[in-house]
Amino acid sequence: MKRTRICNLLEIKYPILQGGMLWIANAELGAAVSNAGALGIISPLAGMESQGDSSENLRLQITKTRELTEKPFGVNIPLDLQQSGILIDIILKEEVRIIVTSAGNPTHYTELLHQNGVRVIHVVSSVHQAQIAESSNVNAIIVEGVEAAGHLGFDELPLFSLIPQVADAVSIPVIAAGGIVDARGVVAALSLGAEGVQLGTRFVAVEENIANIRYKQAILEAQDTDTVVTCRRLLPTRSLKTEFAQKLIELEESGASASDIREFLGYSRARGGQLEGDLVNGEAYCGASAGLIKEILPVASVVQRLVEGYKEVLQNLV
Ligand SMILES: Cc1cc2nc3c(=O)[nH]c(=O)nc-3n(C[C@H](O)[C@H](O)[C@H](O)COP(=O)(O)O)c2cc1C
Repeated sequence: MKRTRICNLLEIKYPILQGGMLWIANAELGAAVSNAGALGIISPLAGMESQGDSSENLRLQITKTRELTEKPFGVNIPLDLQQSGILIDIILKEEVRIIVTSAGNPTHYTELLHQNGVRVIHVVSSVHQAQIAESSNVNAIIVEGVEAAGHLGFDELPLFSLIPQVADAVSIPVIAAGGIVDARGVVAALSLGAEGVQLGTRFVAVEENIANIRYKQAILEAQDTDTVVTCRRLLPTRSLKTEFAQKLIELEESGASASDIREFLGYSRARGGQLEGDLVNGEAYCGASAGLIKEILPVASVVQRLVEGYKEVLQNLV
C-alpha cells in the first residue's frame, strides 16, 4: 500500500487508523491493530463500569497497550467529555506520543501537546473546521463524512464530497473516515486526496473487540438501510435502527425540547448498546456501510485484506 505522509508522521507501515470508540476501544484492540502495521487508538472509558474512574481506566489502558505492543498507538479524547482536561494531563504524564482529539475546538490544547512532543490529529466534518484545525497547528486531520458511525457534524456532509474539498483547502495530511470497510473504499479515499483512512465499524466486528456479541451480530446482519441519524438538533449520531433510535426520532419529530431529548438520552446508553448488547434501550453506533461486513475476523485479517485488496483494486483500474 502507498506510503503517505501519514505513515511517516505516525511511524506506521500502512496509512490505516482504527477509530477511537469511547466504551470499547481498549488495549487489546489497539495493540492488535498496531501490531498489524496500522495505528491502534485506545479510548479512555473502554471496558469501564458506567460510574467508573476514567483517569484510572485510561492509565490502565495505556499501560496494557504498552505491554501488548512496541508499535506506535494513539489515544482518542473527545473534547466534549467533562473530564477531557484531566485525561489530557494523563496523556502528558504517561508520555503518549499520538492523540486524536474530536468533538471540540483544537485550539485549546494543541500547543501544550506539541510542547510535550505529542502529535495531534483532530477530527473535522467541514472545510471550515479543517481550516481552523490547520491554523491551530494540528499535524493532520481526520475528515469524517455523514456515513460514519457515532457523532457527526451538523452539516452531515458526505465523504465523497468532503475529501477533495478539504484536501484542496489545507496543506496538512487528510485522513478519511466514514463508510470505509474494504479496499475499494481505501482506494477511493486516496484517489480523492486523502493520505490515510480511519475505520470504525469494521473494527467493531473483530475478534479482539470487547463489544457485546449481540451488537457485533447486529452489524453483520445490517443492510444498507439499517442505520439512521438521530439527534439532528443536539448532536447528530449514526447508529443501528434500534427500538431506542426509533423512539428518539419520534420524540424529535413530536417537537420535544432539547432538555426533554437530553433527559431521554440519559447517560451511558452507548455503553448499554455496545458493551452490554442492549439493542432495545442502548445506542448501537454503526456506519452506513455495515452491509458490507459479513463476518467477525481477527484484526490482522482485516488489515491484511485491506492491503491485499488495495493492490487488486488498483490493478483492475488500469
Ligand atoms: C462504537 C463506536 C464508537 C465510537 N466512538 C467514538 C469516539 O469516542 N470518539 C471519536 O472520535 N469517534 C468515535 N467513533 C467514530 C470512529 O472513530 C470512526 O471515525 C467512525 O466509526 C468511522 O466510520 P465507520 O464506522 O463507517 O468506519 C465511534 C465509532 C463507533 C463504531
